Amino acid sequence: MHDQLIIFDTTLRDGEQSPGASMTRDEKIRIARVLEKMRVDVIEAGFPAASRGDFESVQAVSKSIQDSAICGLARAIQGDIDRAAEAVKPANSGRIHTFLATSPIHMKEKLRMDPKDVLAQAEWAVKYARQFTDDIEFSPEDAGRSEPDFLCRVVEAAIKAGAQTINIPDTVGYNVPQQFGQLINDLMERVPNSDKAVWSVHCHNDLGLAVANSLAAVLNGARQVECTINGLGERAGNASLEEIVMAVRTRKDVFFCDTRLNTEQIVPASRLVSGITGFPVQPNKAIVGANAFAHESGIHQDGVIKKRETYEIMRAEDVGWSANRMVLGKHSGRNAFKMRLQDLGVEFETEEELNSAFARFKDLADKKHEIFDEDLQALVTEEAAEHTNEHIKLTTLQVCSQTGEVPEAKITLSVDGKEVRATARGSGPVDASFKAIEKIVKSGGQLQLYSVNALTGGADAQGEVTVRLEKAGRVVNGLGADTDIVIASAKSYVMAVNKLHSKAREHPQIDQAI
Ligand code: KIV
Ligand code: ZN
Repeated sequence: MHDQLIIFDTTLRDGEQSPGASMTRDEKIRIARVLEKMRVDVIEAGFPAASRGDFESVQAVSKSIQDSAICGLARAIQGDIDRAAEAVKPANSGRIHTFLATSPIHMKEKLRMDPKDVLAQAEWAVKYARQFTDDIEFSPEDAGRSEPDFLCRVVEAAIKAGAQTINIPDTVGYNVPQQFGQLINDLMERVPNSDKAVWSVHCHNDLGLAVANSLAAVLNGARQVECTINGLGERAGNASLEEIVMAVRTRKDVFFCDTRLNTEQIVPASRLVSGITGFPVQPNKAIVGANAFAHESGIHQDGVIKKRETYEIMRAEDVGWSANRMVLGKHSGRNAFKMRLQDLGVEFETEEELNSAFARFKDLADKKHEIFDEDLQALVTEEAAEHTNEHIKLTTLQVCSQTGEVPEAKITLSVDGKEVRATARGSGPVDASFKAIEKIVKSGGQLQLYSVNALTGGADAQGEVTVRLEKAGRVVNGLGADTDIVIASAKSYVMAVNKLHSKAREHPQIDQAI
């Protein structure tokens, strides 16, 4: 007998709290569609009270998704709960997730509340939220550093007030597996009404233990895990969805539970999230890293050829590595293009949008023989960015780089429809291009990260460039793809500048003191 492990994905909420990972409403919808296709049970789509944009995104995701429950986060206060309830109202199945800190340090220094008031407030918040839906989740924030007796009392009160899911967060990633597993075991044994709720965990990765802690909790009875694609999230991130899901699936003999997930959607989801947020995936990342199934040593290669299981515990196809091979080419028509994008969860709202994306596809197909899903995802990300906040566009770039000479870039940008030119020299062609762009846009952003990733195999692969700029504490990521990596770099820089110039979007992580 295997229990079901509920997968609660918080890429669109906690994942979005990574610096520079803010997503637009349409980007959230695209990611949510892939999560739905993956059969994720619950999608936490955002923090509706954080900003109008966040509210609208959660509402839009609630309208677009049929098969996964949609969750909105709320502090344990009336205004937040009202906003979350309204945002998830259109969903087929909506959940409100309310939280309140219970650790001594959070209660004293952040909330400035007495434990007895925290207990009363938690109980009140759950009862209040229950008038909107039965599906209420309660989290005692910083549970991993809370005093166990007090935690038992708060959780008992929350269940009595109607919480159907109790989520135990290790908010600061302080716990270690043996102790965190024991905590879950103790809570489930000591809380008198513990059988009336699903026990969930939410672990952060500050000590690199988020997945290990989550799995220790599963071994001790937790039946929901909160996680994110690629482990995206606050600071060092959250537990990674792909690692949790594949660990329980590969080791059913240990965990005695399994998820409903269609794991073939894991790699496409990873690519999409990386593309939209501009957070690259390290090559040696488990499951979704480019090298996760690559065998370098001769002995390993020989073993795998003779019998795959000698060195592989999972099949690459099962997590979506081979499903995304060559799909389209120069002779593919508009319909094939549209159908393939539909399979990837991308729908165009107007014919004009489809035509514009198709024209971009044809340009790419002229440069590149085989168009893979990764190329299509990058194309759609660029196209979407251009239609949302781009008042600066790259028109032309000419770079002169030769041995013994200082590289020079001549650039033409369209700024609010007007063409502006600049020339600059730099230590390399990329540096020269960035300097030329800065001469025009004068963004003053500090370059925090520059990375190049080949989107697919082959020397004609598109290079995908991430540029991270910081200005006055605001961090933005730009992403650009092209078969020419200097052009990809310039596109990426321009996208980041456009984001810096766009009306500052409130960071989803708002002041949580109440
Ligand atoms: O890390 C945390 O404690 C959270 C809660 C809101 C669940 O993200
Ligand atoms: Zn968190």
